[in-house]
Amino acid sequence: MNSFAFWSPTKVVFGADTAGQTGSEVKFFGGTNVLILYGGGSVVKSGLLDTVTKSLEDEGINYHCVGGVQPNPLLQFALKVIEDYKDKDINFVLAVGGGSSIDTAKAVAVGLAGNDVPLWDYHCRKALPTAALPVGVVLTIAAAGSETSDSAVLTNTEDGTKRGFNTPFNRPKFAIMDPILTYTLPSYQLACGIVDMLMHSLDRYFAPDTDNEVTDELSEGLMRAVIKYGRMAMENPQDYKARSEIMWAGSLTHNGITGLGQALDFSVHQFGSPLSARYDTAHGASLAATWPAWARYVYRNNIARFAQYARKVWGITESDDEAAALAGIAATEEYFRSIGMPVTITDAVGDRVKDDIDILSDICSYNNTRTIGSFKVLGYDDIKAIYQAAL
Ligand code: NZQ
Ligand code: ZN
Repeated sequence: MNSFAFWSPTKVVFGADTAGQTGSEVKFFGGTNVLILYGGGSVVKSGLLDTVTKSLEDEGINYHCVGGVQPNPLLQFALKVIEDYKDKDINFVLAVGGGSSIDTAKAVAVGLAGNDVPLWDYHCRKALPTAALPVGVVLTIAAAGSETSDSAVLTNTEDGTKRGFNTPFNRPKFAIMDPILTYTLPSYQLACGIVDMLMHSLDRYFAPDTDNEVTDELSEGLMRAVIKYGRMAMENPQDYKARSEIMWAGSLTHNGITGLGQALDFSVHQFGSPLSARYDTAHGASLAATWPAWARYVYRNNIARFAQYARKVWGITESDDEAAALAGIAATEEYFRSIGMPVTITDAVGDRVKDDIDILSDICSYNNTRTIGSFKVLGYDDIKAIYQAAL
């Protein structure tokens, strides 16, 4: 097991009807003048925003509301919010929604904390933040895991890339998670979330050094639970047990615990981001569309690892490792298909992608200036071959 540092300080408040506790949590963490960020209106329609603001009022906490965060959230939106609120003495940022609102809140929290660095420089790894306002979350979708993660992902419309930056400052102070809030999710978003949760484990599981039984068992168990309860939630959107299991799994698959003691790979996330940046493809769909091609391209690097995944996660009984490995890849692909996810990039964005392979490869490789992945290190030609195979 490689050495590691693990710090996951987010207080999780989990269960039905917990949103009314938002005010007391904000107060506990010192918020007196709160900036609330939310998305396109689902939290207004459901009445959640009213519940949250009332709980702040009950605690005598001042607040400002900014809606309009879009899925695949934009750097330019975050920068405008920072500009609009930089002189308003905000001391707490609260996201009410999913990964897009949370990531915008994290970026705004860094921007409002007085770091004297352009926000995008953090995303481009040119600098690290030295401070951030505290962030809280009221979660409405089990997916990105941003409610406990250390990253914030934004799309820059100027350079056409989607990038995240990681810092301990991005870890929210608290996350309120009521599974009932997820009942209203469109099934497509539920499916995207299921894929994303699986991929947060898979992008860590397929690493070069994998002699970590505790980490493996955690990861395999989480993946089995997401597959099982994800399917149940698709069939019955108001299944509280299923919604609970995947909501908690969503946090655990991306708070870092499923990758401890080994290098990260995360190449499939890198394949997905150019699709989201260029075509606004939903994050989970961008991952489902590229994982099968990636897996078939790289599995020979460690056939035994793919066979372990097939046997432990999918219950594949093939005794031959290579046959098991391929059966595990096929089972994953079939599962994605069964929940309505694309399994090729043509499925995801249509025929127009056929002419864009070079562009996607340029975006993914930052114009051939970087490699991606660690399970198999992928250079420009590999990246292009995988996009081609994913057509
Ligand atoms: O905007 P509203 O109206 O709220 O609607 C949203 C949005 O259209 C809707 N929705 C969410 N909860 C709902 C609901 N509709 C009805 N009822 C509810 N309860 O779902 C749509 C998607 O919302 P979004 O916040 O975009 O979803 P998600 O949580 O999947 O977040 C995706 C973003 O997170 C990033 C992704 O790249 C993407 O930009 N990620 C963030 C990570 C992190 N910070 O750690 C890690 C991930 O790998 C990922 O990259
Ligand atoms: Zn993800």
